[in-house]
Amino acid sequence: MKIAVVGTGYVGLVVGACLAENGNNVACVDRDAAKIDMLRAGRMPIYEPGLEEIVRRNHEEERLAFTTDLPAAVQDSDIVFIAVGTPQGEDGSADLQHVLGVAHKIGRALSKYTVIVDKSTVPVGTAARVKAAIAAETTQPFSVVSNPEFLKQGAAIEDFMKPDRVVIGSDDERSAALMKELYGPFTRTGAPIMMMDTASAELSKYAANSILATRISFMNEIANVCELVGADVDQVRRAIGSDRRIGTSFLFPGVGYGGSCFPKDVKALVRSARDKGYEFRILEAVESVNDSQKLKLVCKMQEHFGELKGRTIALWGLAFKPRTDDMREAPAISIINRLLELGAGVRAYDPEAADTARRLFGDRIALCEKSYDALNGADALAVVTEWNEFREPDFKRIKQLLKTPVVFDGRNIYSPEHMRALGFTYFSIGR
Ligand SMILES: NC(=O)c1ccc[n+]([C@@H]2O[C@H](COP(=O)([O-])OP(=O)(O)OC[C@H]3O[C@@H](n4cnc5c(N)ncnc54)[C@H](O)[C@@H]3O)[C@@H](O)[C@H]2O)c1
Repeated sequence: MKIAVVGTGYVGLVVGACLAENGNNVACVDRDAAKIDMLRAGRMPIYEPGLEEIVRRNHEEERLAFTTDLPAAVQDSDIVFIAVGTPQGEDGSADLQHVLGVAHKIGRALSKYTVIVDKSTVPVGTAARVKAAIAAETTQPFSVVSNPEFLKQGAAIEDFMKPDRVVIGSDDERSAALMKELYGPFTRTGAPIMMMDTASAELSKYAANSILATRISFMNEIANVCELVGADVDQVRRAIGSDRRIGTSFLFPGVGYGGSCFPKDVKALVRSARDKGYEFRILEAVESVNDSQKLKLVCKMQEHFGELKGRTIALWGLAFKPRTDDMREAPAISIINRLLELGAGVRAYDPEAADTARRLFGDRIALCEKSYDALNGADALAVVTEWNEFREPDFKRIKQLLKTPVVFDGRNIYSPEHMRALGFTYFSIGR
């Protein structure tokens, strides 16, 4: 099929590349000309494991093109995905200006029947608004479909190529049939394509992210209680996770959730509910627990050192999670800002997010090229993102490089017994 994907970010680029990988002809559209030039030159604007190879291969085989020319891409397509950002607006709601702006442009470009797909995460009612925006610009026939994306950054290719399910909200047979055909090759392993109305499809995405965020905040509170009563959150996690009704995933406590999705999607759902006169009390608590949890390590540092003024803290990990360079809403940002406020210095290392951190913090923190360089002369090490390379480090070297052998482990990746045996003063979450 011929496809256009408008918005070539973490989602749009993965969707475009994976659709091309299965034989479709895809044009990835973005208004950011620098990004499009970069992709045409074979360079990647983001880090996502496995993506570069798929992009390069499909670009070389001329199934995947990059352009800023939205009208031409739309005119040449049977299906047009909208995958632009839906950032948080000032009142917490999803800001739809990019989605609706693109919808108007698509409307002006239509020259034949086309299916327009909302891939961006958007509140209930957006499919109807996109439909109205397009209808205001054209008399051509078209359908609007809601198809929320459930991929995880860091495992995006695998998630898109082998989804647990595909959710499609559609109000007419013609677009439903086309979408089923498009996703057929991705669901051969038996994953269901779930057809539903657009409102349910739109709400499904917010409900999914909100329940995951709820599990994280819930476990962070269990961890905080563990610390007070002398229990070990790891034991509790294993005990409850083995119950099939609960399951093992998303039960790891830490320094709170971040990223471009959970924080804004939780806020947007609270806001949508409030607009209908409903207070979503659980989600309000989920958010407030997360805000405090992001500063948990700094509190532990203050308890240990007293004043932090004049101390230097080494940070391992800046991205909001491993295997991405994305720092949007990352706990590392809250931690660094608080440390700087308290007069501490920060030396930081991340395998992929250093450029992003440089744009955010400039020379207010020292960004190191190598993990061990960050430890040089620091008073303590804080592990903020659980990249694999931090899991089995050279502890002897860590001890030699730090001024004092103190480790704050925000991801519980080390064993407390082992750390103590090695002579570290060791703090983790809920243990
Ligand atoms: N990042 C994720 O893991 C993830 C997962 C599922 C769903 N989502 C949702 O997908 C959407 C996109 O997220 P993302 O992380 O890919 O965002 P992103 O910021 O990485 O990418 C958005 C892209 O859209 C482009 N864009 C904005 N306005 C445009 C316009 N008018 N015309 C053309 N291009 C335009 C931007 O230049 C940018 O390249 C959001 O709604 C998000 O909530 C994200």
